[in-house]
This record gives sequence, C-alpha cells and structure tokens, in this order.
Amino acid sequence: MKLRKLGNTINLKGKRVLIRIDANVPVVGGRVQDGPHGRIARCAVDINWLAQRGAKVIIMAHLGRPKGRRVSAYSLKPVAKRLSGLLGSKIKLTRSVVGKDVEKSVAAMQEGDILLLENLRFDSREEENAPSFAEALAKFGDLYVNDAFSVSHRAHASIDAIASNLPSYAGPLLAQEISVLSRLEQKAKHPFVLVLGGLKMSTKLPIIKRFIDQLDTVLIGGALANIFLVAQGLSVGKSIFEEGVLEEAKLLLNTYGEKIILPVDVVCARSLRKDAKKTVCSINQINEKDRIVDIGPQTQKQFHQILQQAKTIVWNGPLGYCEISAFAQGTQQIANVIARQTEHATTIVGGGDTLPVIESFHLADKFTLLSTGGAALLQFLSGEALPGIDALKIS
Ligand code: 3PG
Repeated sequence: MKLRKLGNTINLKGKRVLIRIDANVPVVGGRVQDGPHGRIARCAVDINWLAQRGAKVIIMAHLGRPKGRRVSAYSLKPVAKRLSGLLGSKIKLTRSVVGKDVEKSVAAMQEGDILLLENLRFDSREEENAPSFAEALAKFGDLYVNDAFSVSHRAHASIDAIASNLPSYAGPLLAQEISVLSRLEQKAKHPFVLVLGGLKMSTKLPIIKRFIDQLDTVLIGGALANIFLVAQGLSVGKSIFEEGVLEEAKLLLNTYGEKIILPVDVVCARSLRKDAKKTVCSINQINEKDRIVDIGPQTQKQFHQILQQAKTIVWNGPLGYCEISAFAQGTQQIANVIARQTEHATTIVGGGDTLPVIESFHLADKFTLLSTGGAALLQFLSGEALPGIDALKIS
C-alpha cells in the first residue's frame, strides 16, 4: 500500500501544517495517562520534527465523546500540558475549535510555533464529516498531515473530508504503522501465530477469518477464550462471555480446531478484588461460583513453547484481568515471551487496552510495532477500508 508521505524533500519553512494526532487517552485528576510510548508522546516527536523544519504547526485532536457539545471535562487542557512538557515550551490551546479567534491566533504564528486547537468533537460537524467543518479547518493550513492511525477508521471531518481540501500526507508515525502492518499481508514468515485476548469476539472474529488460512496457530486467552470453552460444552462459572457469537465459535472450532489453542488451565477467583483468593483449575473443573481471571501455568507454558518457534506474532487483547496486578501474571509472562522473540520474529502488538498494560510492564520498545490503534488496528487487520488511510493512498 503506497501512501503520500511527508518526507524530507517538501520545504516546510513558514508553511502552516495542520496535523491530526490522537490524544484520546485516559485523564485522571486533570492529568493525561500517557507514558513515554503513549499516543501523545509518540506524536510529539513528529510535531517537534515539523517545528524544527520551520513549519507553523497547528495540532488537531479529540478527547472522549462529548457529542458535539462543549464539555469542560473533555477540554484538551491536559493534552496541552502534556505536550508542553514533552516539547519543552508552553503550547497554546485555542478557546474555540474554529472561527475568528482561532484565525487570529494562526495569523500571529511564527516559524516553529505550535498551536493546539480545542477538542474537535466540541463541534458536531466533526463526527458528521461535514464539508463545512473540513473547509473551516483547512483554512488554517497550507497542508494537512494525518498522524493518527488510531482514528483513521473514523470518517470524520479532520480525518476524511479535510483531505479533499489540502495537499494531504501521512505523518511519520502513521506511515510506520501502515508499513509494518502492510508487510503482514504480503510476506508473513512462518510459523505465523495470532494471540487474541480481551472480550469482544465480534471485533476479533473478522481477523481470525481473514488470516486463518495463513496462520499456523491461534492462541486464545482472556474472556475471549470463554466463548470457545462454552462452545466445547464446558462450564465457565461466573465468567463473562459474548453469548451472541456462540454458533460462530462452534463453527470455527469444527473447521479449524487444530489451529486454535485454548487454555488448558486457568486462574479463578470469586471476586475481582485484588486480594481475592486465587485457585488454579483445569478447564473442566471450574466451579459455578468461580470467575476466570487469568490463564494458568500449564497454558502459559504451552503458549510459551509455541511462541518461541514463531517467526511472525500478532497479539491483540489481554489474557486476563491484567489491570488488576494480582491477575496480570499470564499476560505479563506472554508479553515477556513475545518481547524476547522480537529478535527472531516480526512482533506486532496492539489494542486500545494493551498499550498502557505494555507500558506498565516496561516492554513498550521491545516489539517490532506497538500499535497506537485499537479499533483501527482490528479494522485494518480485518481487511476493511479505513477512510483516513484511503484519503492518503497513491492510486
Ligand atoms: C481510540 O481511542 O480508539 C480513537 O481515538 C478513536 O476514538 P473513538 O472510538 O471515540 O472514535
């Protein structure tokens, strides 16, 4: 897949560059939860690169889902603060998203200046992909850069419609993600192992279906495994599972059973409290009062052996309730194995809830690609078109 990339040859001196980033990270107590490998930190590298080249950098981003209204809890103030810290100078945040006062702020910018527009989703036209909003944004720039792979599945004005208004390019972060992911389709080396966890089978099913012929093994853990265990007639006690896809799970097991590896043992607890008593159970011994909270030691061993042989690994979704440290052991152990295997294999790790977990394990720089994408990554890997990427393709 060829994208129009913003290389070093384009002269940016004095140009107004409108860059779309993904700053959608949790905010706790007014502070963004964004580590050194988080979405904002990674875009900051590219923002700095643009400013160093003499561009006037105008940043566009969203936070949460304020549904077209100005909601102070979703102001980008904490993002401006984080960017200021990362870039070493105070980043100004506009009061409005578009309009006269923003025009004035843009007109006053000098080469190398950086300005952050307030949350795009305060204007309902953003999510409507409204041409009028795209035009209003485009007025602030001479060119447009999309550096937000993780929002590129959204047909929103700052991702899609804007690209018809300005010369448009893929930013370095987005281009790197697409380059690694595109290689998967063409020449994934074998053994090719897919590791899936998390809850939603409905979002992960298209990936299994798309790659199953290419895949050597699919390792399944987390709540996603529960549906397959139920499909085999086993009890999962009080554990959650997505009931609506039971028939699909049965069909997959019947057709590709030899490729799909499920846990043989699990860690169970009666509650999700971090001090809850944990027991390791074989998967046919789960008590009706129990809840599966992690993969068990035998399963970890089996997954480990398979991953050690792999030449391509794609991992999406935690293998247990790993946000609770007491139940994170299985996910951490598998994360370590995949990180070590990066020396011998292409390793791609992603998913909205995976990135912070990986950062907490201090493994963020240990993979071929730690994707910023959640739903966008799943959609890309499922073979579905992403409006933001289509807008940047060289036809
Ligand atoms: C994400 O967090 O996955 C992206 O920022 C997209 O956010 P959205 O699901 O609210 O569109």
